[in-house]
Amino acid sequence: MTHAVPKAEIHCHIEGAATPDLVRAQAAKYGVDVAAFLGERGYVWSDFTSFLAAYDAAAALFRTEEDYALLAETHLTEIAAEGAIYAEIFVSPDHAERSGIGVGAYLSGLAGGIERAKAESGIECRMIVVGIRHFGAEAVEAAARFAAGRPHELVTGFGMAGEERFGRVADYARAFDTARAAGLGITIHAGELAGADSVRDALDHLRPARIGHGARAIEDKALVERIAEEGVVLELCPGSNVALGVFADWSSHPFETMRKAGVRVTLNSDDPPHFHSSIGNEYAMAAATWGYDAAQLMHFTRTALEAAFIDEATREKLLGQLR
Ligand code: HPA
Ligand code: ZN
Repeated sequence: MTHAVPKAEIHCHIEGAATPDLVRAQAAKYGVDVAAFLGERGYVWSDFTSFLAAYDAAAALFRTEEDYALLAETHLTEIAAEGAIYAEIFVSPDHAERSGIGVGAYLSGLAGGIERAKAESGIECRMIVVGIRHFGAEAVEAAARFAAGRPHELVTGFGMAGEERFGRVADYARAFDTARAAGLGITIHAGELAGADSVRDALDHLRPARIGHGARAIEDKALVERIAEEGVVLELCPGSNVALGVFADWSSHPFETMRKAGVRVTLNSDDPPHFHSSIGNEYAMAAATWGYDAAQLMHFTRTALEAAFIDEATREKLLGQLR
């Protein structure tokens, strides 16, 4: 039932989307041993810190423009086969630099993969530049300045990922001001590893259109009401939250409670192979857990498209595919 539903996802880290098969091929290409972070049953990690280490180790195996083109093409072609018509991917200038590729080549490589996937399947994709919170405010400001320079037409948003328990949200306000002034869409990871205060701080200091995760806003009823009232869209990633132990299981996840409270919710995969998920799996699990029918699932797709960081003509075209 869920397979035929058109899907859209607005929260996925491109390096985190590298499949074990692709990472093994990259490791063979560069003669790198992956045993420390990749086993027979996939990525090996045990908590958020070791997850980030596995993520960084896999990311370091993408080093050329063609490596990144292949990464984006593989990911987008796979999710298009699951019914995705639109995807946003988080891209990280810091990870590009660590891999030894210039950020310009990083973006043009990814864009090449995006174009190939679109030619094969029709899927639309945009890129959101993220700063990495635990690299500090200056690094995030540098990422924001880079994004604000409009380095590629497919870069349409700015966000912040990384360790949410690091630093204070207010320290990053300048970075977000820079990005907002350049007309970029704004999102920030909050309410994943830290609680409701983190989400409230993000709303107060950074005025994002969307919150990455935001699931732990559930700890504060007044905050959930505020999110609903202000129309802030939550990029919820239930499979990721369950895998990282933020919630015990799917039925304990606040997705349905938030939806009933009038929050604009979307379904997303975050770092799909790390969490043994995919956008198709998120839709299927949501339907199995909360009994959604195709029309309800399509509503989540519609919300994601309404909140997408994309030009209005393309948004209308994509919304038309739901009719
Ligand atoms: N949270 C924060 N930072 C991240 C994540 C995540 O789930 N994935 C990759 N970077
Ligand atoms: Zn994320």
